[in-house]
Amino acid sequence: MLKSEQVVHNIAVLIENGTLQSHTKLPSLRAYAQQTGFSVVTIFSAYQRLEALGLVYAKEKSGFFVAAQASMAKQTDVQAVEVTSKVQVNSRVFQYLKALTQYTHASLGSAFPDPDVLGNSRLMNTIARNAKYRKSYYSGDAMPPGNATLRQFIAHKYTLQGIPTQADDIVITSGALDALNLSLQVLTTPGDYILLQSTVFYGAWQLAEKFGLKVITFPSDHEINLDAFEAALKKYPIKVCWLMLNSHNPIGFTVSQTVKAKIAQLLATYQVYLVEDDVYQELYFGLEKPLPVQYYDQDQWVLHCSSFSKVLGAGARIGWVRAGQFSDKIQHQQLMSSLSVNPMLQYALAEFTATLHYEKHLRQIRSQLAKRKQSFYQNIKAILPESCHIFYYSSGYFLWIELPKHIDSTALYETLLMHDIVITPSILFQKHTAKQSHFRVNCSYEWNDRYSQIFEFISKIIKEWNSVS
Ligand SMILES: Cc1ncc(COP(=O)(O)O)c(C=O)c1O
Repeated sequence: MLKSEQVVHNIAVLIENGTLQSHTKLPSLRAYAQQTGFSVVTIFSAYQRLEALGLVYAKEKSGFFVAAQASMAKQTDVQAVEVTSKVQVNSRVFQYLKALTQYTHASLGSAFPDPDVLGNSRLMNTIARNAKYRKSYYSGDAMPPGNATLRQFIAHKYTLQGIPTQADDIVITSGALDALNLSLQVLTTPGDYILLQSTVFYGAWQLAEKFGLKVITFPSDHEINLDAFEAALKKYPIKVCWLMLNSHNPIGFTVSQTVKAKIAQLLATYQVYLVEDDVYQELYFGLEKPLPVQYYDQDQWVLHCSSFSKVLGAGARIGWVRAGQFSDKIQHQQLMSSLSVNPMLQYALAEFTATLHYEKHLRQIRSQLAKRKQSFYQNIKAILPESCHIFYYSSGYFLWIELPKHIDSTALYETLLMHDIVITPSILFQKHTAKQSHFRVNCSYEWNDRYSQIFEFISKIIKEWNSVS
């Protein structure tokens, strides 16, 4: 990463997590250059970049200031905890996922990064070699908890992050969704309460529906509102929380370490389990991988779930849960459902991840996604009317777009479908009764004329609808 990009990232994180408040003056170019050891030119170019991203503004002869972060302002309404006793979201998700396979311009709606970014010929060669030359597979790998070498690698990655982990703590699953599924299955019984962020990956709503859980949501649109979180834990007999705190899908934010530490403390105080969905953990743009809540968890209240599918593609959908004390129970559930995860793919991943190529691959995709996300952001910002707000966070590959007041994102989604274009409307991530004014776009692709045309079209619709409302 270039030095100026490091500065951009560091300041962006401080703005995103609220350490740098709206209208705070940034350090002078000279002061920041001295502090970091970088040149004044590097700092100036970083400040200009932050300005282009809409995160800071320049005042003549006064320097650079943090732009108003109105929509990121912390919500403090602790009453806004909501209960939905009967969740029905699966059919809606089904229709949307079908649309992704049937419509021509579906990449904006996809949940996966551009396959061209993730494609790795060495991985493919490893898979091919395993398929061609390996005569047999150890039968134990066709049984839970999965391939021992792969589990050792995953355990080692946790340990490197300061989370001491043994291979036996890990259960290999068919992707993160399977890991999340199994975790909820062992932690809950129908009718239990689950606490979710008010905007959350639709998988959480689907599984709440599947397991007959009562859903409580708390406001958490651009950080975690700890007051509301604690109020919910106090008020309801919550069995389990499902939280996404790194590179949140769909919004994109990463929660500060202080907040994560506090969450771990509250879980222990209220004796509530956390299913931590950390599927985008490797897609950070800064220098260090953000820690999960798991890091702060002293008493095993957290089951941490992740997978390779967002970094190696849907073709390598293998995930895991750091199950700890629940490892046996999860394996029992696996025996009654998928039984095992494809052993051939597990061998190939165990082999590939043991080489330096895996870390190199991760570095490359981070750098490519960072560039593409910025390019999308700038292009979309230039095209959409100013009344739209685009939330940019420095990780992952989603942009979350807020429409003007009177425009409904479900209506926009349906209109665009008629023109063969798929976006992801907020109704998939929120209670259906919530006001639907956002949509998510996948910005992992190379910006091109086709995207310009699509966003010009979206802009035209928004302006037309705005003028009649
Ligand atoms: C937030 C989140 N969690 C979990 C998953 C499921 O991951 P996997 O494809 O590894 O099952 C996804 C996939 O889109 C996701 O976005």
